[in-house]
Amino acid sequence: MHPTTRTVSHPVLSGRRITCSLATSVLSLALAACVPGNARQDDSLYQALGGPTGVDQLVEKLLDRCYADERIAFLFKNADRRDLHRLISEQFCAESGGPCTYTGRSMTEAHSGLQIGHAEFEAFVEDFTDAMEDVKLPYRTQNRMLKVFAPMQPEVVDQ
Ligand code: HEM
Repeated sequence: MHPTTRTVSHPVLSGRRITCSLATSVLSLALAACVPGNARQDDSLYQALGGPTGVDQLVEKLLDRCYADERIAFLFKNADRRDLHRLISEQFCAESGGPCTYTGRSMTEAHSGLQIGHAEFEAFVEDFTDAMEDVKLPYRTQNRMLKVFAPMQPEVVDQ
């Protein structure tokens, strides 16, 4: 058989092809990270939460704790737990870099009229931290979540 008509792939050539496609992938990743407006979203926090299942379990534990916490449970008496679960899950997913869009109200709007003070906010943060412990999130992930949500305090307190 003439060498140029052989169909069996050549080990050296296919090796080169792999190297080349690897280089192309690395280059496009680098470009995606550099080009403004085309930056890939960092979803590492979302992954650390355990994706959709992890977020769902975390929100369930958070609401379990809030609804059972006599310091703040009364604030939730008129809230629809299913809606709240869905909206907080969307928000956790979106804020942690996951593939979701938050469709709820602004934080100010959602909490206006509830008269949430600093004591209630602290109780909520404690329940949130305990919920993150419940689902066994590592401290680093817990701290990253607190860092994302702590700045929202002024939009929640005294609205
Ligand atoms: C950074 C902290 C907080 C975040 C990220 C957060 C997030 C949310 C979200 C996404 C909603 C649903 C919005 C909507 O209905 O469109 C919501 C509603 C609500 N939140 Fe928060 N929240 C926070 C703090 C608190 C605190 C401290 C309390 C009470 C102690 C609280 C009590 C409620 C209640 C009762 C509702 C339901 C309101 C209603 O149905 O009218 N939240 N929150």
